[in-house]
Amino acid sequence: SKVNQTAAKPVPTLPDAQTVTSVTHWTDQLFSFRVSRPASLRFRSGEFVMIGLMGDPHPETGKQKPLLRAYSIASPAWDDELEFYSIKVQDGPLTSKLQHIQPGDQIILRPKPVGTLVHDALLPGDRLWMFATGTGFAPFASLLREPETYEKFDEVIVTHTCRDVAELEYGRQLIEGLKADELMQELIGTENLEKIRYYPTTTREESPKMGRITNLLQDGTVFKDLGLPQINATHDRAMVCGSLGFNKDIMQILEGFGLTEGANSDPQHFVVEKAFVG
Ligand code: A2P
Repeated sequence: SKVNQTAAKPVPTLPDAQTVTSVTHWTDQLFSFRVSRPASLRFRSGEFVMIGLMGDPHPETGKQKPLLRAYSIASPAWDDELEFYSIKVQDGPLTSKLQHIQPGDQIILRPKPVGTLVHDALLPGDRLWMFATGTGFAPFASLLREPETYEKFDEVIVTHTCRDVAELEYGRQLIEGLKADELMQELIGTENLEKIRYYPTTTREESPKMGRITNLLQDGTVFKDLGLPQINATHDRAMVCGSLGFNKDIMQILEGFGLTEGANSDPQHFVVEKAFVG
């Protein structure tokens, strides 16, 4: 009716639109959200896609362009929704807006998954190390819910370094949830879930384990704490996701342990992806 037409806000039809199903705010700088999954989207756990929102209208032409950023998919390949874990940057072109999404809102999702943090890029091994800082935990949230992770490895060591304790919460709850969730126990196996070793550290706020994981690897603290031998190319594989500086430093350490970097086309001992937004 005419009344409804004038009362309703015009809803722009987005290309590749997906609907937000839930939003969780973890701190004033971190949130996660879930959206509907396009029926045709296939991806490998650990990959990323471009997501975003329509930008503001151009001041002269009024035209709107999509504002897109790379985001690791935090949900596993078998999930019927997609999950993302994001920082909130107050003056960030995308995240200043994205942080306000609500269930029922639409986001843009380009269904072209890519990435190197995938099982295909690693040679078989005994232990899989996941090294994350900040929102770099996202691809591991996917891989930790992926049965292949436990089929391929006897042990999965998850390290997460953040400035403050509250920033660890998304990862901590995810890992605790895995172990408590019946579906997950059925899918992954209770014995398999016991393979997970969680090693969170903080660098600014007091917590049971403090320090950058890079330093804790170099001085041997991690190996002593976990009762494991030093990382070596025979037994250990690693996936790395954090800031550029972190990735560079940890690559050097892993190479110092004798590991070489792999890719989809050339599987080796470790792979690296930068945490995109932040
Ligand atoms: P630190 O507090 O010592 O800088 P950020 O919030 O800057 O992205 O950092 C996230 C976490 O990653 C922080 O705990 C930070 O420690 C740590 N970090 C940053 N850069 C490096 C690096 N080059 N090597 C190891 N840890 C790092």
